[in-house]
Amino acid sequence: MNAAPQIVTLGAHVLDTIVQPVDEIPEGQGSLLVDEIVMSAAGPAGGTALVLTKLGARVVTSGAVGEDVAGRVLVGLLRDAGVDVTHLITGELPTSASVLPIRSDGSRPALHVVGANALAADVVPWEALAAAAHVHVGAPELLGPENVVEILEYAHAHGATTSLDFLIGGEPAFYALIEPLLPHTDYVLPNAEQAMGWTGAADLVAAARALHAAGARVVAVTDGGGDVVVVEEDAVAFVPIVPAEPVDTSGGGDAFSAGFVYAKLRGQSSRDAARFGSATASQVVAGVGTDHGVYDAASIDALLSAAAR
Ligand SMILES: Nc1ncnc2c1ncn2[C@@H]1O[C@H](COP(=O)(O)OP(=O)(O)OP(=O)(O)O)[C@@H](O)[C@H]1O
Ligand SMILES: [Mg+2]
Repeated sequence: MNAAPQIVTLGAHVLDTIVQPVDEIPEGQGSLLVDEIVMSAAGPAGGTALVLTKLGARVVTSGAVGEDVAGRVLVGLLRDAGVDVTHLITGELPTSASVLPIRSDGSRPALHVVGANALAADVVPWEALAAAAHVHVGAPELLGPENVVEILEYAHAHGATTSLDFLIGGEPAFYALIEPLLPHTDYVLPNAEQAMGWTGAADLVAAARALHAAGARVVAVTDGGGDVVVVEEDAVAFVPIVPAEPVDTSGGGDAFSAGFVYAKLRGQSSRDAARFGSATASQVVAGVGTDHGVYDAASIDALLSAAAR
């Protein structure tokens, strides 16, 4: 039995198929030989659940997949990793999936089917939320603000801390889906494009401050290979990432969220949590897929101690 505190992740679960390297799509019916084609569980709920479990947390994930091969593969990958999948329902829409052609520099476009993730609001595991030490909503935009506020308030009322990460891009109009959630959230973990786009701020600090002013207790904005900007109370910190040679940056944000939440749950400061998050992400982006890397919390701690020397 894993005696670690229970974390509930809910929201988007995605089956990623990652192809690498792809620097151009062949003309006509041409074909391209690549180094690898890998499948991984992913998404801001599913991917974060996977990484949290690898770190050593006890994770229950909740959401919806389709009644199809992709759904069976996705649930199987999470179950095999040790995630509790009893609250992943099978809905009538196809499993959410992405195809990610990775360029040689690690960047990638994404081809995405939303599918069953649109049903995530139908399956809130209230009992698991009541028992949780932490609740992470991955892609709250899929559940609708009223549902998410109810979930966050319920989690808080039962003693859990809460966090949010997102799938949608930084179009200003999307902020209407996000802003009402912020006063109910402990840790808000967007990427730079989302934070700047929603708030219309001119720089990352202004964007993080705006999200904090809207009610989030702690804001940590990731910026790919740049520093993480952390705003808490009146303090702004630029937290250097743990460098990586990225092979596939997909899942970096989900891994950051997992590490950040893990470190906060064991009582670390938000700056240290951002370091731990980026150290976790450095393991994931160094290979293909969110499930890349062999690590646990102790090896991430060791990596950070070595980096500090
Ligand atoms: N090019 C990079 N070099 C080193 N580390 C990176 C790089 N890209 C991402 N990371 C790591 O991953 C973390 C999250 O990255 P990013 O800001 O790209 O998140 P994201 O856009 O939300 O990603 P996701 O695709 O998982 O949603 C960074 O803070 C960093 O630790
Ligand atoms: Mg992200």
